[in-house]
Amino acid sequence: MCGIVGYLGRNKASEILVEGLSKLEYRGYDSAGIAVLDEGKIDVNKCKGRLANLESKISNKTVKGSLGIGHTRWATHGEPSDVNSHPHTNEAGTIAVVHNGIIENYIELREWLISEGYNFKSQTDTEVIPHLVDYYYNGDLLDAFIKATKKLSGSYAIGIICKDEPNKLIAVRKDSPLIVGVGEEESFIASDIPAILNHTRDIYLLEDNEFVIIDNNGIKILNSDKEEIKKEIFHVTWDANSAEKGGYDHFMLKEIHEQPKAVKDTLAGRITLGEKVKLDDVKISKEELESINRVYIVACGTAYNAGVVGKSILEKTIKLPVETDIASEFRYREPIIDKNTLMIVLSQSGETADTLAAIRLAKENNARVLAITNVVGSSIAREADDVLYTWAGPEIAVASTKAYVTQIITLYIVALYIAEMKGTMTEEEINEIKEGLLGLSDKIATIFKYEDEIKAIAESNKDKEDMYYLGRGLDYAVAMEGSLKTKEISYIHSEAYAAGELKHGTIALIEEGTPVIALATQENLFEKTVSNVREVSTRGAKVLGIAMEGHDTIEKVVDNVIYIPRVSPILAPVLSVVPLQLFSYHIAKARGCDIDKPRNLAKAVTVE
Ligand code: M6R
Repeated sequence: MCGIVGYLGRNKASEILVEGLSKLEYRGYDSAGIAVLDEGKIDVNKCKGRLANLESKISNKTVKGSLGIGHTRWATHGEPSDVNSHPHTNEAGTIAVVHNGIIENYIELREWLISEGYNFKSQTDTEVIPHLVDYYYNGDLLDAFIKATKKLSGSYAIGIICKDEPNKLIAVRKDSPLIVGVGEEESFIASDIPAILNHTRDIYLLEDNEFVIIDNNGIKILNSDKEEIKKEIFHVTWDANSAEKGGYDHFMLKEIHEQPKAVKDTLAGRITLGEKVKLDDVKISKEELESINRVYIVACGTAYNAGVVGKSILEKTIKLPVETDIASEFRYREPIIDKNTLMIVLSQSGETADTLAAIRLAKENNARVLAITNVVGSSIAREADDVLYTWAGPEIAVASTKAYVTQIITLYIVALYIAEMKGTMTEEEINEIKEGLLGLSDKIATIFKYEDEIKAIAESNKDKEDMYYLGRGLDYAVAMEGSLKTKEISYIHSEAYAAGELKHGTIALIEEGTPVIALATQENLFEKTVSNVREVSTRGAKVLGIAMEGHDTIEKVVDNVIYIPRVSPILAPVLSVVPLQLFSYHIAKARGCDIDKPRNLAKAVTVE
């Protein structure tokens, strides 16, 4: 997820672009750049780091042009660096492009363009775009741009300018947001409303595969056959603060709702039906994988909880013993590590000190380390042997939601990759999981229809002091995450229990009205879980059940139930965690907690 903004009007584009980018830093902040058409040439200024770095870089320059594009980056392909920052240009510097999204086929396009004599400067997927447009350019930017986009697969919002067409800004979107701002003798493009709110409240919302052409005659929206599309203007009534959160009250809620897209992006280009799993950045060979006889998954907090899900996924698919460890405990327990060990570390921030320390211990003992992280170029990404990025976009709320879900998605991808290499699953079994994975994004979206119901249940529990989450197998792993979410944002004491373990002590705490959230999504454990739920409900617990559609016998033992869509049980965690995130969010909101910045917590924990 990155932020893009573009401008054509009467004012100094550089100032409008930088101001717009400052409102989009929540979408990405590892580098920033602008390209402005100034005195007959495109002037590009870009650099690594926060927008302030770019501002100081251009502070002594006079860039007068009134046509330009800008970008704030959240790296996916290529580490944050000056050269990887956007805008990217063709070699002659006559075409400049900003891009948000992922070009899935960039490797083959890059190879083809190189064979056609093009040279690349960056490691990004985006750089293929200006070269492709250059390849097709014959005096008509729109024509060349349409031809170029037909070659792209993946998701994109792209803004483009060309030196030879000095009063024209063109943009397109596909699976990445893009809006068009309608001002007085000035027009804008942006990946989100806050970027342009100081200038106009009238916007067009572009749909997939729609192109916008902004020139001195105004704004035209066309399809890829260049036919004009008539659109209604949408008048924005939100204030700047809520616009930044996409109209949601908190970043956490926005990020919960971004999960369908985060899941889709993380799978993009890696899982395709009928093809082998593709992992560009993982270099571990078949021989090295054959020699692995033990796997550790090491992480902290929510990432650890994703690792507990990962243990089950990996053991079921790659048929090796897997242990999941809390990073701060791992190195003090003298774990057995050698060259036949694979260590998978999970970290949203890529900077967690305990996780880094675990990597160093593993490497000292010759283990192979695979990092799964959301931050390109982070310390953990740099120190691991292989890295697989979650493409969740920046997570602003301290409580992790979309990072957790994409960590689990990435673990499925790793599991299938290893299973394919080692032949531990049949093609049919692998295809079934791939198909299930590709359907998850839409299935998550259907759970949001229960949000009002979940909110009402949450509000009725707002004054409780203790809560229990129960589940068996993968449901227990998800219960751990639900319980952590509740604790960290609502400050209600909560514990997760293996449903069958409760009667060995903890059941003594159940009394009239004790809230229990019971997960029962695992087909083979359903009846047993229902029996455990009955043990607490007969002792007065008020139970919210989470079950798969069709398992309505759960209604006999619970007070409320939220159904998740039917899916292979191994994939259920990605769905069942969503109601728990919403439940925790709405309890915290009802209690008036500072949801995005809970007390005593930090987004990146860089001390041991
Ligand atoms: O950046 P990391 O994923 O390594 O962070 C690990 C934990 O600090 C983190 O998951 C923490 O538990 C979150 N606040 C949970 O929402």
